[in-house]
Amino acid sequence: MQNLPCVLFDAYGTLFDVYSVGTLAEEFFPGHGVAISQVWRDKQVEYSRLVTTSNHGAHYQPFWDLTRAALRYAIKKVAANAHPTGLAADFDAQYGAQVERLMAQYRQLSAFPENAAVLQALQTRGVVTGVLSNGDPGMLHAAVNSAGLAPLLRHVISVDGIRKYKTHPDAYALGPQTTGFAAADTLFVSSNSWDALAATWYGYQTLWVNRQGLPFEELGTQPTRIGSSLRDVLSFF
Ligand code: LAC
Repeated sequence: MQNLPCVLFDAYGTLFDVYSVGTLAEEFFPGHGVAISQVWRDKQVEYSRLVTTSNHGAHYQPFWDLTRAALRYAIKKVAANAHPTGLAADFDAQYGAQVERLMAQYRQLSAFPENAAVLQALQTRGVVTGVLSNGDPGMLHAAVNSAGLAPLLRHVISVDGIRKYKTHPDAYALGPQTTGFAAADTLFVSSNSWDALAATWYGYQTLWVNRQGLPFEELGTQPTRIGSSLRDVLSFF
């Protein structure tokens, strides 16, 4: 396992903090910011699976559009609890501005503080680095650029071209197809346990970065290693 030539990172939750939007959501919906950011994330992932597994992909939408749809759902669900007398009939008139402000922040999510130093160390060691994400190219490039990580990532790979989200195997296949390195020679890093699990099933070496102290999935397979921050990537090289 030593001296792997290549490492691919998941983007959302792994390089970028998807829950950092909770502070702005809290400003708009006092007492509900955390709930909105959690429902938003869960629904975004659920929608990505729904459009990949239903009706032969006929209902595919880019991740940016799924992200907006998931935010609308989250606000409807959480804010409805906050306003038991009911939401205004015209959701856009009531919440459209907040949706757009939150989406604008999602485009420039905070990166985890250790990222740049870890990517720099990998570059120094001659390791090929990249992102393999469900995000569409526009949102991925915006996030990578705003975090200043563009010079440290050789590849930014989006599933958008094949219109299938992880955990579809065709999505994981984009890694080897793009980098030229076999999955078995590539470390795949994700903070999302489902993503670390499916990448392990696909055949990657995997690191699950368990930032939130959660249990791993109970489906009989473990990632190659478990860490608590991106720094643990360096133990592979
Ligand atoms: C990604 C999401 C699923 O970046 O975290 O692919």
